[in-house]
Amino acid sequence: MKDSLATVEVGGAAPYRIHIGPGLLDDGALLAKTLRGRHALLVSDSHVAPLYADRVDAALRAAQPELRIARHVVPAGEAEKTLANFGGVIEALAALGATRDACVYALGGGVTGDMAGFAAACWMRGIDVVQLPTTLLAMVDSSVGGKTAVDIPQGKNLVGAFHPPRAVLADTATLRTLPPRELRAGLAEVIKYGAIVDADFLRWLDAHCEALLAGDDAALAQAIARSCAHKAAITARDPFEHGERALLNFGHTFGHAIEAEQGYADGLNHGEAVAVGMLLAARLSATLGLASWGDAEALRALLLRFGLPVAVPAGLAPEALLARMWLDKKTQASGLRFILWNGPGAAQIVADVAEGAALAALRTET
Ligand code: NAD
Ligand code: GLY
Repeated sequence: MKDSLATVEVGGAAPYRIHIGPGLLDDGALLAKTLRGRHALLVSDSHVAPLYADRVDAALRAAQPELRIARHVVPAGEAEKTLANFGGVIEALAALGATRDACVYALGGGVTGDMAGFAAACWMRGIDVVQLPTTLLAMVDSSVGGKTAVDIPQGKNLVGAFHPPRAVLADTATLRTLPPRELRAGLAEVIKYGAIVDADFLRWLDAHCEALLAGDDAALAQAIARSCAHKAAITARDPFEHGERALLNFGHTFGHAIEAEQGYADGLNHGEAVAVGMLLAARLSATLGLASWGDAEALRALLLRFGLPVAVPAGLAPEALLARMWLDKKTQASGLRFILWNGPGAAQIVADVAEGAALAALRTET
């Protein structure tokens, strides 16, 4: 077994380990260690499968010659995170004859991880899923914590389940083929951890901006490990989002509304929508006296330094975005619920936010 650069333990009722380092997709012993039975389904997307699926397949077969392994490839992109494609993964499990001890390997970004994880959560009421994230966003966020889902036209991630992975193997060498735009999208979620729980990390990110954007291996590995440590700690304490886990949704109420209103196709991707959403949430917080306008401006400057968008895309009406927010999972019957900001390293859940204040944030010129 190769030495990983780092491991992060996730505690709680269903503990697992996150391995972070280059070359992990070739580590058959580590991959096979997660197997309980004789069936494995490797799920990937049409961009990632040609790059990495053969390697995972070969590593697993070498380590476990008895394994019955099938591959299921879904077209790439958020627009493909659908109930129909979820059904395709289920059909692939059925065709494989996957038993209750089977394992799904989710190789790709958050779209693959969420959809394959949801299929694993549903097949025979729950089989193992091992997350093999290949985007920065998936390494620092979606592969950890057990949220799985698909989108429906009415809203993002509205159909899903909590289903923690059996293990996460983040092969950092895969980031070398990631398009720069997707790297920046992942950095938005990294900035989120600094914003909500770790002011020192925010300063570190500011100081290492160029190295991170250049894809520096050491800087990225540090950013991934620190982000995963935060996500691991929060999700171990609050796996089902009864409380503090909701803080991880900073920027997401606005962001998800933008993604849904765009129809999940063209426009901002998830990380970019979260970047815009964080700034809008920071401004809403300043309007409500929870953060300073200076902190909101500093956040805007940091997002811009990381090459991230800070404005709602033209053509999306504030009223339409507001209507989307009523269907956000954070919203409750009584009113709009936001994760608001108290400045670097601190955030809070605020219920019953006035519609007018949210609309004002959406209408602010950048
Ligand atoms: P994604 O899965 O669509 O990946 C982005 C693009 O990069 C895709 O085109 C993909 O094919 C490509 N790609 C992936 N890895 C690559 C590589 N190594 N080399 C070249 N191309 C590669 O998007 P994402 O940003 O990874 O994930 C976004 C999704 O994650 C959203 O659906 C979001 O809702 C979800 N999410 C879930 C959670 C959670 O807790 N479950 C948290 C955050 C985000
Ligand atoms: N990405 C938010 C969460 O996992 O809770």
